[in-house]
Amino acid sequence: RRAHALSDGLEHGPRRLQNRFEEHPGFPMEFSNTPDTDPSLPANLEWARQIAARMETSQIGSDVVRDHTQSTFAELDDMIEAVAAAGREWAARPSVERAEILVGVADMMEAHRAELIEVAGSEAGKTIDQADVEVSEAIDFARYYAALAPALDDLEGATFTPVGTTLITPPWNFPIAIPAGGVLAALATGSGVLFKPARLTRRIGSYIADLMWKAGVPRDVLQLLNLDESVEGADEGLGQYVVERVDQVILTGSIETAAMFRSWRPDLRIFAETSGKNAIIVTPHADIDLAVKDVVYSAFGHAGQKCSASSLVILVGSAGFSKRFRDQLVDAVRSLNVGRPSDLSTEMGPLTEAPRAKLLRGLTQLEPGQSWVLKPTKIDEHLWTPGVRSGVEPGSEYHLTEYFGPILGVMRADSLVEAVEWQNAVEFGLTAGIHSLDTDEIAYWIDHVHAGNAYINRGITGAIVRRQPFGGWKRSSVGTGTKAGGPNYLYGLGHVAPTFTGN
Ligand code: SER
Repeated sequence: RRAHALSDGLEHGPRRLQNRFEEHPGFPMEFSNTPDTDPSLPANLEWARQIAARMETSQIGSDVVRDHTQSTFAELDDMIEAVAAAGREWAARPSVERAEILVGVADMMEAHRAELIEVAGSEAGKTIDQADVEVSEAIDFARYYAALAPALDDLEGATFTPVGTTLITPPWNFPIAIPAGGVLAALATGSGVLFKPARLTRRIGSYIADLMWKAGVPRDVLQLLNLDESVEGADEGLGQYVVERVDQVILTGSIETAAMFRSWRPDLRIFAETSGKNAIIVTPHADIDLAVKDVVYSAFGHAGQKCSASSLVILVGSAGFSKRFRDQLVDAVRSLNVGRPSDLSTEMGPLTEAPRAKLLRGLTQLEPGQSWVLKPTKIDEHLWTPGVRSGVEPGSEYHLTEYFGPILGVMRADSLVEAVEWQNAVEFGLTAGIHSLDTDEIAYWIDHVHAGNAYINRGITGAIVRRQPFGGWKRSSVGTGTKAGGPNYLYGLGHVAPTFTGN
């Protein structure tokens, strides 16, 4: 998990504040990233076998979902009132106390790593290794924000004030780390939280909320909102009703959802991470074996269902180099085991949601000049084999569109300058990568790439808390200025005003 993590992304928050946090005397603990489970140890393999065996019939989280189904406006009113009142008390506590509870949440999640993985496999189709790194990331968020929080009470020349009730609406593709990160960040700042798990991953969401309550987060400070407006008979407009009544929203999802929230409420304070169309450039100066491995992982990890995923590889240089790389890439992709996460040999799992029109197009249709190097095949509604197409032209639909599935397109550029132009030509700017061992090439790329998270000689998914704070540029973010898992994130979620010392 930590190998090859060379870049910390191009952090664009208020850098001058960066170091003050970690030098703070109230810093309750030394932060270090949580290790993932090493499957090469026999005991861990046995542990994974037991989790896999439970996945198909897992019921984890069902009871909490049942107990927290909100369906009426009246119930929402009660919740919103309760969280606002409890949030005021929460805000009045010293940050160190809140931080201690967050550390407890981290311990609780570590103690229930197996259950979290089980429910993520069962409900979202996550493979054990993909779910395992998510649990580590969630724990990292808890410990890191706990480490940062005490400084909020003691800013030099400034006062930090929590914003108030914060709605967290995470996506289904990272159903553990992203909700945990949002909820814990808001809690760390002293805001009360309404947490609405994604429709497809309500059991995981509910289970996480339950772990947080058990670790000491007061019930009313964290309210679980189980809204499913697609259910027949559900009141329409519940989502809008909530958005109109909170002080702040952290959303990870589509640009359309962010725009809808804004249309409901133009003055909404919103922090949204949205889409990406992310490419990795590989030059002839790359370590090819490493590049192939990183491209495959970035494109097909969790079947490509990541906003950070790479669905494009841009090869620089001669046709000979391009062919050599492509052949090696295709061998690697073809050898991926596709299956259910309950089968331990599975390397690429299912699509959480059966593909809709856009992804279906990406899985089945070529544009003029393109050809399948590896054609995706449908095993069943949710299970597709990975696809690789070549001949992707700049400006084509494939070049510019996020499909969110197991497909990778290959482009060939004559020069690094051209490759970077194509990498930047999309409307998004979330992640980007380069594989090259040539320092001049790397220096050029760093100066010209337009992405929030820019990675050198590493895959482009799986940002690590503190090391690679996560957040996009251009249309990949709405309203964000600071990055999740970075030193300035908590500041962004509150009001920071100069302390009046006047005379
Ligand atoms: N943080 C995730 C990643 O880096 C995406 O949300 O892959």
